[in-house]
Amino acid sequence: MQLSDRLKKIANYVPKNTIVGDIGTDHGYIPVYLISKSIAKKVIATDISQNSLNKIINYVNSTNHMDNIENIEIRLGDGLEPIRPFEVDTVIIAGMGGLLIRDILDKDKTKRDSITYFILQPNIASRELREYLYENNFEIIDESLVKEDGKFYEIIYAKKGKSYVTKDIYYEVGEKLIHNKDPLLKEFIHDKIKRLKNIIIELEDKNTNKAKERYEKLNKEILELKEVLKEIESY
Ligand SMILES: C[S@@+](CC[C@H](N)C(=O)[O-])C[C@H]1O[C@@H](n2cnc3c(N)ncnc32)[C@H](O)[C@@H]1O
Repeated sequence: MQLSDRLKKIANYVPKNTIVGDIGTDHGYIPVYLISKSIAKKVIATDISQNSLNKIINYVNSTNHMDNIENIEIRLGDGLEPIRPFEVDTVIIAGMGGLLIRDILDKDKTKRDSITYFILQPNIASRELREYLYENNFEIIDESLVKEDGKFYEIIYAKKGKSYVTKDIYYEVGEKLIHNKDPLLKEFIHDKIKRLKNIIIELEDKNTNKAKERYEKLNKEILELKEVLKEIESY
């Protein structure tokens, strides 16, 4: 089976022979891939929506030639609820907003802390998710970027541990992306700068204090992003 670049990169972070929880699995491509390639020992595929779970049930049934299909367990439920403490070593929470991922992790801390590896792919609000991770004793082990259909996706690989950021902009642009010289990083930052400049143009017509504050904040962020571009050159 052929996974999209985004899903492939997510799957590549899964340590071999672990038991994985794929939270918000939807189509079920990742569980089937991880089991068919013997990467994971077992995958518990969960989703809050029965409609989504039906997709994975249909998909798993359509792959009836697959060995070890019994190693995929499908469960209905919200966030980590369908998973018992210490039942999985690794969780994947992908294709949702960063705030939802943060709330899922924060809802049951005992369960969260029984998990070793976290593969997180926020569609938006990656800054807020990184802030949560740094403030809650997570260490970001690695990060990578994927571009699919013109959109950038950030994949964060974390475990429990202590780490901190030295510059505010590293909440916005993961520091590991800089250290790794991620091949998409420059393009990703230029794209961010372009978006911020577009917002700034809209703000220029507004004369409120709030608009002024935002204008200054965005200009500062652009300067910080330009600093990151210089930093990439120096690596
Ligand atoms: C856009 S899909 C992403 C599917 C897959 N993880 C991926 O990355 O391609 C988001 C899925 O998350 C599920 N979802 C949303 N909130 C959830 C929650 N609180 N707990 C579990 N699943 C949730 C949705 O039902 C949907 O199937």
